[in-house]
Amino acid sequence: MYEHDVIVVGAGGAGLRAAIAAHEAGSDVAIVSKLHPVRSHTGAAEGGINAALQEGDDWELHAYDTMKGSDYLGDAPAVETLAQDAPEDTMRLEHWGMPFSREEDGRVSQRPFGGLSYPRTTYAGAETGHHLLHTMYEQVVKRGIQVYDEWYVMELATSDEDEPNDRSCHGVVAYDVQSGNVEGFKANDGVILATGGPGQAFDHTTNAVSCTGDGHAMAYRAGAPLEDMEFIQFHPTSLPSTGVLISEGVRGEGGILYNSEGERFMFEHGYANNSGELASRDVVARAELTEVNEGRGVDDEYVHLDMRHLGEERILDRLENILHLAEDFEGVDGLVEPMPVKPGQHYAMGGIEVDENGQTCVDGLYAAGECACVSVHGGNRLGGNALPELIVFGKRAGRHAAGEDLGEPQIRTGYGDDVEDETETELPVQPGDAGLDTSSGVAADGGVAADAQGIVERKVEQARTRVDTLMDRDDGVQHAEIRQKLQNAMTDYVNVFRTEEGVKKALRIIRECREEYQNVYVDDPSRTFNTDLQQTIETRNLIDVAETIALGALVRDEFRGAHWRKEHQERKDDEWLKHTLISWNDGQPDIFYRPVILEGQDKTYEPKERSY
Ligand code: FUM
Repeated sequence: MYEHDVIVVGAGGAGLRAAIAAHEAGSDVAIVSKLHPVRSHTGAAEGGINAALQEGDDWELHAYDTMKGSDYLGDAPAVETLAQDAPEDTMRLEHWGMPFSREEDGRVSQRPFGGLSYPRTTYAGAETGHHLLHTMYEQVVKRGIQVYDEWYVMELATSDEDEPNDRSCHGVVAYDVQSGNVEGFKANDGVILATGGPGQAFDHTTNAVSCTGDGHAMAYRAGAPLEDMEFIQFHPTSLPSTGVLISEGVRGEGGILYNSEGERFMFEHGYANNSGELASRDVVARAELTEVNEGRGVDDEYVHLDMRHLGEERILDRLENILHLAEDFEGVDGLVEPMPVKPGQHYAMGGIEVDENGQTCVDGLYAAGECACVSVHGGNRLGGNALPELIVFGKRAGRHAAGEDLGEPQIRTGYGDDVEDETETELPVQPGDAGLDTSSGVAADGGVAADAQGIVERKVEQARTRVDTLMDRDDGVQHAEIRQKLQNAMTDYVNVFRTEEGVKKALRIIRECREEYQNVYVDDPSRTFNTDLQQTIETRNLIDVAETIALGALVRDEFRGAHWRKEHQERKDDEWLKHTLISWNDGQPDIFYRPVILEGQDKTYEPKERSY
């Protein structure tokens, strides 16, 4: 068994930042990641980092834009912390050597992004995430932080008291991709999940194949609720054939969207009369699909994004990467023709419920980055707000896990006296694992192990049995079949436009996927680099996470941010200024709600009509 003070799971932006912070606070910290750090999906982030750096801008404006962008579902203490800490944390990256794009006078450049009242998106060409990842990985190497890469964390080593708030996390169980061994990692002070998003729950996504919601699913099964999972961001400009992202930076620099009739529809059809292409993402994604649905799409599928008028020099200076992506994946030369784009799943606003210090309701279990919901993004994330979230809240989680006192959090977690647990929505099928054997439950074998070491050992044994069971079966269904069925259901029915009937259909299909998963088998018999086995385990995680997305989408009967419901075309502030929480209660998802916090440091963010 390996042992460290703090174990960080995942080596993207949030994981690296958390590890650096824990190390600076004096902890023996290790990173356990299924990928080599610089292959993490943060590397695909193109656009930039929002931070109020310039005169004329300030953190209060950033916080206001973020609350408005969230459609008033962001928690003000988290939003204000993000806006206050982003400038210093961004400048720290600059001091660590991050190669930001610059103005002639040497100052770091900033550009406009959707939903921002000030051009505050700091960037490094259209490869900001790539540079951020490399900059932080250098810091990890410099500090000698131990990285276990190509170790796939399968399960948390959590105690199994009845109430999740009484449980504690003592480590993780991981599968060594190179050797095929399953081993325990004991964490003396805390486990920080930084495992990224669940984009692979959808068929058309900008997310890498590694984005399988592992942290979400493990925390959920360990008892930490998932929050606001229904809020999925669909980025307006993904390439139609692959889902590869074309950065909002193109529109930030002045790129224009046209329909098949050559109309600049964001203005000409009145979707966003002030901000046009730079309205917030949910608005632009719906506008594009409305154009397509009303017969003004190109090839009945997509719209055009034109940047030719920006000129070759500016494009090469600020957006060169975009030229390569359009050419390589779509065969289009962005210097001489417009690029085809359509909405693609991009980001999960919801995630593992945490407070401002990254703590879940399970003692010793933390989460940061896309897998967490603190909540800064609420119903809709503003472009350029994901990367500051990684560095601000990754840092806080690392420090707190290492024992620093960051003060009493204002955001509460887990089941408590401030939650409401009424839900009248009738579900079309029994959700969760109840009655099925998919071998995962946190309390599956009952009994509280005596000590931390015993808890980790017991979980290792369970995980080894699970791997052996999967490897021993010699027929059944392959994970790829189940995964594709799940992805199609989510893209068909839990997409930009949602109907009650469609979401219910998705829940029925998810149930079928669970049933089929009981007979899943691994075709590849090898013990080393068995991606078939790893993806089979990931698929189970995707099923759990997809179900929470669909459940949230069904119960929230209003239209807020990215969550559009055909039958409920208004934002219902009287009823829905609250977060949806779903917790895994012995295989049976429980739904409850916690009020959103609109009271900031010096003011209350009164919900207003959101127009751009
Ligand atoms: O469009 C983009 O470059 C993506 C940025 C983001 O999601 O923040």
